[in-house]
Amino acid sequence: MRQIRRVLVTGGAGFIGANFIRLLRRERPGWQVVCLDALTYAGNLGNLEGLEGEAEFRFVKGDISDVELVGRLAGEGVDAIVNFAAESHVDRSILGCGEFIRTNVGGTQVLLDAARGGKAGLFVQISTDEVYGSLGPEGAFTEASPLAPNSPYSASKAAADLLVRAYHHTYGLPAVITRCSNNYGPYQFPEKIIPLFVTNLLAGKKTPVYGDGLNVRDWIHVEDHCRAVLAVVEKGQAGAVYDIGADQERTNLELTRLLLELLGRDESMVEYVPDRPGHDRRYAINASKIQRELGWRPRVSFAEGLAATVRWYQEHEAWWRAIKTGEYLRYYQRQYGKTL
Ligand code: NAD
Ligand code: DAU
Repeated sequence: MRQIRRVLVTGGAGFIGANFIRLLRRERPGWQVVCLDALTYAGNLGNLEGLEGEAEFRFVKGDISDVELVGRLAGEGVDAIVNFAAESHVDRSILGCGEFIRTNVGGTQVLLDAARGGKAGLFVQISTDEVYGSLGPEGAFTEASPLAPNSPYSASKAAADLLVRAYHHTYGLPAVITRCSNNYGPYQFPEKIIPLFVTNLLAGKKTPVYGDGLNVRDWIHVEDHCRAVLAVVEKGQAGAVYDIGADQERTNLELTRLLLELLGRDESMVEYVPDRPGHDRRYAINASKIQRELGWRPRVSFAEGLAATVRWYQEHEAWWRAIKTGEYLRYYQRQYGKTL
């Protein structure tokens, strides 16, 4: 078990990073957590609300591509860097992938150099199952599956993974890669299917299902993903890849019907829209390696997790309405008295 005193979490104002920081504050209160986030459209300080006054937590607004800033933070003596920062939405990468290359590839390279220079104990790259491409009806991805990314987003994540691998091999940088399946839970930006569909239904709008709705995703509650990352930070083997998933495959139509039922709406709210270009048909993760080697297990059942997630969006209308109207972008100004 690694002894951790200070951890640098990048992208911690986004969906998974914020949930990870909240998990650390609850379960590892002695750890100092520094959050570096550029507050892009996906970064929201509202996701970290309530932590700002805590002595062991520090928020730094900045870009992972900023060599000087990242070098300084890594040089403060961090025991682990956990890199969640990324452009994360496939549809946006199809519209234009410049930012995806700049942050996901270039930013990761800057962080890797800083980790080498600052002698960070461990570098954890939060990657995705999408680097493996698409599956047919049978089987599941494992750590041995070939990389075959199909979208500009997943190609940028795969490129970053290869850099992480190369830094470990060439320089001996203690680095680990995690590849998780689709996350759901609180604080997810309402461009991703679950929060988009839930907030649309709450606002009386339809759910835009791409194509025939039969694409399959393998769902995991964000807290289970974050617990897996924590296990990797504490016990992961340098140089290893860990796939993370909870064995909860659903077609998009099955998922949509569950959401309709939870919100008391019927199929008249489903709108079929043109398919996503290059749309991956099916993802599924075999997570037996992390279960076997690190003793991690998912704890949240899909039925309970989805119902709790729908309740969370019902109870946090101000949070998602502020995003839909753009008001959340002014949060930083209110908190820090500065504009972005
Ligand atoms: P998100 O889009 O909600 O958050 C990304 C965060 O990164 C935001 O706070 C944003 O401000 C920040 N950021 C973006 N560019 C930055 C830069 N140049 N410098 C500093 N900060 C920057 O994403 P998410 O869904 O929380 O995903 C987090 C990570 O997990 C990503 O690396 C993603 O590839 C990976 N992942 C996501 C899922 C999923 O289902 N959402 C599944 C597996 C892996
Ligand atoms: O698998 C992990 C990946 O999961 C992460 O690496 C990505 O960061 C994350 O965005 C997610 O990618 P997906 O493309 O799977 O997620 P998204 O929510 O965009 O889409 C999920 C499925 O729902 C996919 O088959 C497309 C479909 N969809 C999505 C949207 C936004 C729709 O049918 N309609 C929609 O409006």
